[in-house]
Amino acid sequence: MLTPNVVPDFTALRVAVAGDLIVDRYVYARPTRLSREAPVIVMRHAGEELGAGGAANVARNLCALGTRTTLIGTVGRDAMGRELIRLLETDEVSVEAVHSSVGYTTPTKTRILGAEPGRTMHQVLRIDREPDHPVPLEERERVARDLRTLEGRIDALLVSDYGYGLVDENVGAAARRIRDAGGVVVLDPRADFELLSGATAMTPNLAELANAVGKSIDQMADFSEVVRAANELLERARPEWLLVTMGNRGMALFSEEERAGVTTRPAGAESVIDVSGAGDTAAAVFTLALAAGLEGPRAMRLANTAAGVVVMEHGTAVCPLSTLRSTLPVAPQPSRNTAVAAELR
Ligand SMILES: Nc1ncnc2c1ncn2[C@@H]1O[C@H](COP(=O)(O)OP(=O)(O)OP(=O)(O)O)[C@@H](O)[C@H]1O
Ligand SMILES: [Mg+2]
Repeated sequence: MLTPNVVPDFTALRVAVAGDLIVDRYVYARPTRLSREAPVIVMRHAGEELGAGGAANVARNLCALGTRTTLIGTVGRDAMGRELIRLLETDEVSVEAVHSSVGYTTPTKTRILGAEPGRTMHQVLRIDREPDHPVPLEERERVARDLRTLEGRIDALLVSDYGYGLVDENVGAAARRIRDAGGVVVLDPRADFELLSGATAMTPNLAELANAVGKSIDQMADFSEVVRAANELLERARPEWLLVTMGNRGMALFSEEERAGVTTRPAGAESVIDVSGAGDTAAAVFTLALAAGLEGPRAMRLANTAAGVVVMEHGTAVCPLSTLRSTLPVAPQPSRNTAVAAELR
């Protein structure tokens, strides 16, 4: 039996990721002077970087943990799509099931960061390049077909929905068949939790949870509202585990048996540098841990530790297996919310 502080070996697992592929673009600049054209600061370009976002970032995270990973998704047949495929190849993510489609635009989030020399760069502007149309139907059908070929051949599937349309009913149905064939199936949802009802787990953040039950994120400040929303989703979408990632408030895990939730405080909160992609890391590690046979609360602890590692690095970082092993604290088990449980009774 595994002891509480051991990270399982993920290298024997075979995992697939299907979802929306995104490019994260960072442009760095130094302020120079006030413009004479308009009351704005003129910045001098100091460099730029591209990163893999969305499902592509999930795949990078899985590879960093030593897992054999198949990424299934679509990019536009455009410059950013080509760059994304190149980035994935550099990170040794298999891109055989990543297609480029003429009828699609690769979603790209451009962040402009600025600072005086010697100061930490801060985001001053973000420009999102959004596709005019969702991922074309023939691409979604191809993704569902690719998933069908994996039935019974993978240990886990992570469906990463960033709302660009790749994750539809066909993909949901194909994912359910993987679940029926004995695979762990996890949905990192955006809006539609029911697409994959009966999944092994779902990993919404607070905003996604609030949205799904028609509440505002502000209402989620009260943990009893989180509990209520989570219970509504447990009823509606019937995941075995519902992992709610709560940013700087850590994570809460719900199940049929744990209706009041089990929570864990954030790891690495002392020096947070960049939280983007932390949800991808959390979903990747949670999926692997479940596929390795861990129960939800211990899988959450691993996911929380890994998320704590990536928020302390710039850009969408990953947490390699060796770092996860050396960082996992000898900490108390996640706490049960008895007060909230009593309140609900
Ligand atoms: N400010 C923070 N301080 C400490 N830990 C954090 C912070 N923000 C995020 N985390 C860690 O990362 C986990 C996932 O973050 P979050 O809830 O923001 O996911 P997300 O919104 O899906 O992220 P993204 O979509 O950018 O990948 C949290 O549960 C927590 O463990
Ligand atoms: Mg997320």
